[in-house]
Amino acid sequence: VALSQDDLKKIAAETAVQAIKPGMVLGLGTGSTAAFAVDQIGKLLSSGELYDIVGIPTSKRTEEQARSLGIPLVGLDTHPRIDLAIDGADEVDPNLDLVKGRGGALLREKMVEAVAEKFIVVADDTKLVTGLGGSGLAMPVENPLTDGFAAAKEIEKFQGVVEHGLFLGMATSVIIAGKNGVEVMNK
Ligand code: A5P
Repeated sequence: VALSQDDLKKIAAETAVQAIKPGMVLGLGTGSTAAFAVDQIGKLLSSGELYDIVGIPTSKRTEEQARSLGIPLVGLDTHPRIDLAIDGADEVDPNLDLVKGRGGALLREKMVEAVAEKFIVVADDTKLVTGLGGSGLAMPVENPLTDGFAAAKEIEKFQGVVEHGLFLGMATSVIIAGKNGVEVMNK
């Protein structure tokens, strides 16, 4: 049976969820891939295979999903350190640098993932690019980027820019699911 893109997203997400241990404070990502991880966390909690975890959602959507699954939620105000964040991405390059934010939850995602000890990115293999900007989808800067760090610095100079979708040096692992299997890239 051929695996659909959703199957691949689910495989990547569920592989990442295996890294969750009791006692952890979790960052809960946003988007269709991250939603599979949140679903799986809910399942493991209700079966009793996972317990004693709390989650910090990165969007209203994720907050509602997590709440409906009975995942205990907290905020960065009371839990400023996160053990593990799991989130999707729009683009992933070979250095584990990312473009995110097309799902519209950029600022909260960056706040949560910036304080996460481990940040696992989950994606199907359509998100892999050789250089950021490579997907050709809308980017607030030239495509593709020759130097993501320089571009981020330039964007940050504009007054009124609160955040941008370049997530550089933040991911500690990337789990990519493709038709031929799962690839784990570590920092
Ligand atoms: C959310 O704001 C984005 O950063 C998402 O992580 C990104 O758009 C990936 O979403 P999908 O998993 O739905 O592709």
